Amino acid sequence: MAVIYRSFFSYNITRPYPFKWFTPVVIVGGIIAIVLVSFLNVATTGYELVQASSLNPNATEAARDTWFSNWPRYLIGARASCDASSMQVQSTLYTTKQIFPWRLESIGRVGDSNPLFGSLVYKNNLLQKCNVSIIRIEFETLDRNAGQIAEMPVGGTIGATAKCRVDNGDETSIVLETTYDIVPATETSDSFTGNNQLSIYWGYSLLQIYWRSLMQTFLEENQGEAPFSKGIIRLRQNTTLSGSIEEQLKNPDFLSVASCFFTPLNATGVVVIYNQYCGTHQLSALADSAPAFERPLPGIWRSVEILAKAIFFTVLADFGRNDDAMPNMLAHPDLLAILSSNLTAVNDTLGSAFRWGIHTSVIQKSFDPSRSQSETQQLGVNDSMLATDYLCQVPRLKSAGTLFLSVLVADLVILQAIWKIYTLVANSFLPKDNDKKKQCNACTCSTQDEKGTQDHQSIPPEERKHSSSFCEPPSHESLHRKPSLESLSLS
Ligand SMILES: *[C@@H]1O[C@H](CO)[C@@H](O)[C@H](O)[C@H]1NC(C)=O
Ligand SMILES: *[C@@H]1O[C@H](CO)[C@@H](O)[C@H](O)[C@H]1NC(C)=O
Ligand SMILES: *[C@@H]1O[C@H](CO)[C@@H](O)[C@H](O)[C@H]1NC(C)=O
Ligand SMILES: *[C@@H]1O[C@H](CO)[C@@H](O)[C@H](O)[C@H]1NC(C)=O
Ligand SMILES: *[C@@H]1O[C@H](CO)[C@@H](O)[C@H](O)[C@H]1NC(C)=O
Ligand SMILES: *[C@@H]1O[C@H](CO)[C@@H](O)[C@H](O)[C@H]1NC(C)=O
Ligand SMILES: *[C@@H]1O[C@H](CO)[C@@H](O)[C@H](O)[C@H]1NC(C)=O
Repeated sequence: MAVIYRSFFSYNITRPYPFKWFTPVVIVGGIIAIVLVSFLNVATTGYELVQASSLNPNATEAARDTWFSNWPRYLIGARASCDASSMQVQSTLYTTKQIFPWRLESIGRVGDSNPLFGSLVYKNNLLQKCNVSIIRIEFETLDRNAGQIAEMPVGGTIGATAKCRVDNGDETSIVLETTYDIVPATETSDSFTGNNQLSIYWGYSLLQIYWRSLMQTFLEENQGEAPFSKGIIRLRQNTTLSGSIEEQLKNPDFLSVASCFFTPLNATGVVVIYNQYCGTHQLSALADSAPAFERPLPGIWRSVEILAKAIFFTVLADFGRNDDAMPNMLAHPDLLAILSSNLTAVNDTLGSAFRWGIHTSVIQKSFDPSRSQSETQQLGVNDSMLATDYLCQVPRLKSAGTLFLSVLVADLVILQAIWKIYTLVANSFLPKDNDKKKQCNACTCSTQDEKGTQDHQSIPPEERKHSSSFCEPPSHESLHRKPSLESLSLS
């Protein structure tokens, strides 16, 4: 007989499960489990995050472009996320409407002028409650470059300062400024970039025609002994006007002159006169006055009124403002009809010197709400955000090799756990301890017992005791006795 070597490691004695259902459940359940677990593992570990830039982080984060996107968040390993963008003071930016180039002038907390911040943490937040604080209309003659002077004898810029709220976790208030040249000094296009919204196009057209008309009137009227070589008119909303907001918008004095300055030029060169030029804040009074030192160039003020309103509402359209407190005149057919009522007449008086560079698509006819049904429906101003690029992390399926390996590893772990649980459950169906003993006697010990029962009488009582306890952990004694038992039963 061979000597039994006892290794440090051991193995389990296995026995087949005595259930008919065990194998079919393993096969069918196993296939189902492999499929489900694999899907789960592809969702949790099969994707990696890669860098991507996005113009709309909310859409990128909400994108449902993986098949498990609608699963609960806690089951998904890789989800798209975007970082906020940081905008520095004095940087130039556009809104999503891309009308005016805005310079970020100051950033502060709402209701608290201190502290001011150096940058704005921004994540596609809506621009809210935007107000135009000031509108600037500048006249320039000789200060422009020769090309501009050749194109048009008088020119100048329009500008605006606006204030908006941004709810980026903090209530932040930002001040933005723009200066816009209708006939720019460089080759930049004068048309608003990339917009196709009708209300904005109306704003652009009104700016084009009225700015040119204003410059033409300025040149015509500015023929005195010491004509003005420069001028600036600053306007702001008169918030103390009476009546409903619609009535205020129709009022020619909706915007009042905050200040105006003109620099005369006579034979001695520039004459600086430190005087308040505009003796009144009211545009209608300035327009109806006879020419006087404090009421200069009465002819320009009607055009100033419409141009300033056009700037005001184009700026508000840029910031997406159109609500009950401040209806946007470009978005409401009746208000647009009033704002543009004189457009046809103004177009007709515009001389060829001032028509230089007008794009053919610029609207040169008053808006008629009764005739342009389809246009009426297209008018509107919706929300705006500041436009910038965001860095995002977006999920991408791993390469085939890594995907296979990571899903395989995760599968093996989970499937093993499932197998453990399954066998544990199956084990609980096994016959209880007492039954086990009987079964033991019936199966494990069957070779001896089958024959042994007949010889029971021949086994001495103490030997018979050993035979029934054979399935219990074998003691040294029983191990040693085994051969003798076998020889006994075989005899
Ligand atoms: C985009 O999401 C941010 C929060 O992540 C939210 O404050 C902002 O209003 C959202 N912008 C839009 C346009 O819904
Ligand atoms: C704009 O003006 C309205 C009323 O005049 C005010 O309630 C709002 O706070 C102002 N918005 C900003 C950004 O200051
Ligand atoms: C605003 O309008 C009121 C009423 O017409 C007028 O009395 C007041 O002077 C105006 N304020 C400014 C700054 O123009
Ligand atoms: C130029 O303007 C100044 C100041 O108004 C005046 O004194 C001077 O006589 C003017 N010169 C001419 C040539 O008109
Ligand atoms: C309309 O424009 C013409 C030509 O510029 C001008 O003479 C007229 O006064 C304007 N009417 C109004 C109401 O502004
Ligand atoms: C605008 O004026 C120009 C030149 O006077 C003219 O050719 C054009 O037809 C006018 N446009 C409209 C829509 O009346
Ligand atoms: C505003 O309207 C334009 C054109 O209809 C659309 O492309 C844009 O997405 C809209 N913006 C928002 C914030 O709804």
